[in-house]
Parts: sequence; C-alpha cells; structure tokens
Amino acid sequence: MPNPVPYNSRPDEIIDSASGEIAVFNSAGQNIDSKVVEEFGEEWLKFNKFEDEVIKQIGDEYFDIITDEMVNKSTYALDVGCGTGRWTKYLSSKAGFIEATDPSNAIFAASKLLENTNNVRLTRASAENLPFNDETFDFAMAVGVLHHIPNTQVAMNDCVKKIKKGGYFYVYLYYSLDNRGSLYKLIFGGVNFLRKAVSALPGKSKRFACDLIAITVYMPVIITGRFFKVLGLKKIANKMPLSTYHNRNFFVVRNDSLDRFGTRLEQRFSANEIVSMMEKAGLTDIVISKNSPYHHAVGRKI
Ligand SMILES: C[S@@+](CC[C@H](N)C(=O)[O-])C[C@H]1O[C@@H](n2cnc3c(N)ncnc32)[C@H](O)[C@@H]1O
Repeated sequence: MPNPVPYNSRPDEIIDSASGEIAVFNSAGQNIDSKVVEEFGEEWLKFNKFEDEVIKQIGDEYFDIITDEMVNKSTYALDVGCGTGRWTKYLSSKAGFIEATDPSNAIFAASKLLENTNNVRLTRASAENLPFNDETFDFAMAVGVLHHIPNTQVAMNDCVKKIKKGGYFYVYLYYSLDNRGSLYKLIFGGVNFLRKAVSALPGKSKRFACDLIAITVYMPVIITGRFFKVLGLKKIANKMPLSTYHNRNFFVVRNDSLDRFGTRLEQRFSANEIVSMMEKAGLTDIVISKNSPYHHAVGRKI
C-alpha cells in the first residue's frame, strides 16, 4: 500500500471528526464560489446515508471506464470535492491509499461514511489549494465537482498538476445534452428555468421545493419509464428523460433533485468540449464513456 505523503504546507487548524483528526487548509481563492460550497455542506450533511450496495451499483456505472491498470493496490489516489466520500469509499477497495478532499462541511459526512475505511485520509481543502506537491498522485478524480467551480478549465488544470506523468485523471461533468434530441433539449430549457428559481430560495424552502420536484416530476417520469420497460419497450424507456434513475431508490432521487435544482452554479459541457479541456490540461488517450451518467471521462497525463 502506498504511504500518504506529508502535506506541503501547514494547515490553518486541525478539527476532530468521527474518523479522527482532519487538517483544514484555507479555501478562499479566486476560483471558488463560497456560497455554493456552503450549500453543498448543508446538502451532504442531510444526505449521507449511502448503503454499500447503492454505492456499488451506481459506482459501477460511474467508473465503467476505469481499468485495473489505472487503479490498483499500488495506486496513490486523490478525490477532489469528495462530498460524502461515497466514491472514495467505492474506490477504497481497489486503490492503495486515497486522499479525500472537500472544502465544505461535507467533510464531516465523509468522516462518518469512511469511519471504518483505513486507507483514506480526509482533508478540508479546495481544488485551488490542494496541500500536496505537484506530480504526487497516480490517479486523481473530480466527480460532479468542476462544473460547480467558476472556471472549470483552471480547476481541472489544478487537479491534473497533482498527478504524476503517466498517471490518470477521471472526471464527471454535467453534459450539455449534446447526445439528445430537440424535444429533450426543449424540456431541459424549462427545467433549467425552474432550477434558477429554486436554487435562489433559502435553505429549508429550497429543500422542500426539491422534495416536491422529486415526488411530482422525477417519480412520475421514472415510474412511466419503468412501466415501459416492463412492457418490453426498453428502447423508448431508455430515450426518456431520467432513464438513469430507473434502477435508483427514492433516497438517491431526492438527493439528486436537491443537487440539480438546489445549486446556483452549474455549467454544462459537450463531449468535444470535455476532450478539449482535458487535452489543454495535459492529458492524452482520453476515453469518454458511451454510457450514462453523461459525460464521464478518463485520460492519461503526458
Ligand atoms: C455535487 S458534489 C459531488 C460530491 C462527490 N464528488 C460525489 O459525487 O458524491 C460537489 C462537491 O464539490 C465541492 N466543491 C465545490 N467547490 C469546490 C472547489 N472549489 N474545490 C473543491 N471542491 C469543491 C462541494 O463542496 C461538493 O461537496
């Protein structure tokens, strides 16, 4: 198992958590939206009870393009914006050691979820101020994080800098519906309008509105899709909005509704734009998964 390296700077403070001490580094900077970070802290402290089977089931979809060569027992890995630490947990059985970082209070949720995982260290830090030397890691990932950062390209560069030459970077970024038809895009236009209104609400009202959306919008569409599948109309079901959720439970649906409608800053990218950003960050051999969630990709550092 690789040994975790010492931090390359002194933490501002050390805090206690369920899984032990956590070093805190200053997250203030040019490329961070502190309101978004604060709201994620609130979100993840409410939604942190991920069962192992759910993590495994969804993780297999997120990480379908990750091979044993990219992540194995000798891999020293970095999870940027780990949130509840669910994907750190997923990869912890495959990787050697993982540094899981997040600038928000979500780090406390992660400390609970990862309480019994001994090949992980938690650190409170932002993508811009990661307290590790450049070219430290064999593998780094940012899962659903960089589209919530003002300058996604700069944040990606900051992550890739920390990877050794020949190491890998995995990213999941919201897609710009580039692989969808015009009806889907039209529906999404309305959805995005709703997101702008809902995400501006204060905490409790926002959570209530997102739950309402989960029940009145997500669930009817998901149940209709599941019904089509039962009738053998799999092709139609898979083309419907929210088809990813046909095998998800209601907890995940509620969480994602809050994630999607409750966040002020979200950016979306086409597959081509993602490849181009990854190339600019210094990656090659880029693979974009053909499967949902759209888009997730991995590349090797030159
Ligand atoms: C949608 S959540 C994803 C969490 C986790 N990766 C997952 O997929 O479950 C986005 C996370 O990015 C973190 N985040 C936001 N701005 C960040 C920044 N500038 N640097 C690092 N993480 C950031 C938030 O605190 C939040 O936990």
